[in-house]
Amino acid sequence: MIDDTFAAKLRSQGDRLLVLLTQFPQARVLVIGDLTLDEFLSGQVERVSREAPVLIIRHEATRQVPGGGANAIYNLAKLGAQVKAVGLVGQDEQGLALRRIFAEAGIDTQGILVDPDRPTVTKTRISGHARQSVTQQIVRVDRKSDQLPNATLQAQLAEYVRSQIANVDAVVCSDYGDGALTAPVIQAALTHSCTIVDTQQHFQRYAGATLFTPNLPEAEQAVGYALTQPDRSKTDPAALRQAGADLLTLTQAKQILITQGDEGMSLFDGTAEQHIPAFNRTEVFDVTGAGDTVVAALTLGLIAGAAFWEAAVLGNLAASLVVRHFGTATTTTTEMKTALLALLEDNPM
Ligand SMILES: Nc1ncnc2c1ncn2[C@@H]1O[C@H](COP(=O)(O)OP(=O)(O)OP(=O)(O)O)[C@@H](O)[C@H]1O
Ligand SMILES: [Mg+2]
Repeated sequence: MIDDTFAAKLRSQGDRLLVLLTQFPQARVLVIGDLTLDEFLSGQVERVSREAPVLIIRHEATRQVPGGGANAIYNLAKLGAQVKAVGLVGQDEQGLALRRIFAEAGIDTQGILVDPDRPTVTKTRISGHARQSVTQQIVRVDRKSDQLPNATLQAQLAEYVRSQIANVDAVVCSDYGDGALTAPVIQAALTHSCTIVDTQQHFQRYAGATLFTPNLPEAEQAVGYALTQPDRSKTDPAALRQAGADLLTLTQAKQILITQGDEGMSLFDGTAEQHIPAFNRTEVFDVTGAGDTVVAALTLGLIAGAAFWEAAVLGNLAASLVVRHFGTATTTTTEMKTALLALLEDNPM
């Protein structure tokens, strides 16, 4: 999966990457994110209801984990960084849960404001299992509003961001289209000299940011043409190269990193394209949230002084670990170090 040229480059940078990892705890990051709570309710199927032809499940467990922009924040914290979270939650239990999870991970939640008009974005999966069968998801219930936060809240978020710009080494915008990142907030974010943007849409709103990290479908939508072969089985290298160039023009960014699932990622800076293959393609269980992990590790790499390629490799390495776990997941620098040493060992001279 890793060709000789890439392996040689990785070996030559191995020691350096290990040093960069040790510097993650010093990093101070502000993340503005569309915060989501992922909920998993599960239990055993008891019988069919008499009220309607539906199953009755006896509740056994509720699991709550950060999702969307909250997953990027949580990933940064678990990698050891000092994180300030900025975003909106509703006046509800889910908002409190998210705040509690963050506080337990040592995340500064002062920048999380309560929006009385809109619920905390919540995705609740309800799953059931019979006595001797696998657990199966039955339905998912989403809570969200299609409205934007009111102008006062937008201004308050922007104000908070401005007040913290001088206290952080980088700003991350994790935009899932749920309304935390309105024009005034983005404007405030862009006053920092190191801004990393992970957005599903509207790239030009972030014009002038340092780095963008779209996945393949997001990049495709932004440029308006297909980036895969006609049968969609693989990325089309020529189209991808064109997209890298077009996105650099569109965003005025220093670099564009297009992540491509099991095909890894490609970094563009206007003069060169560098491809990084996926490091783990055999023990992949759930790729949800891998992009958030990429952003987290890559940001901490850049703060530690990594070149863009080195930072992307660290992002790729972290992603190769979280795809082994169910749902959104996090990793640590200890795990990353072990994985890097294993990777170097598997690809000797
Ligand atoms: N199937 C896979 N096999 C191996 N590695 C993978 C796979 N999917 C993702 N990865 C790793 O995760 C990185 C990011 O994945 P992807 O391009 O799917 O991001 P994403 O769509 O933004 O994810 P999300 O939005 O769910 O957080 C890839 O560059 C790669 O390193
Ligand atoms: Mg993503």
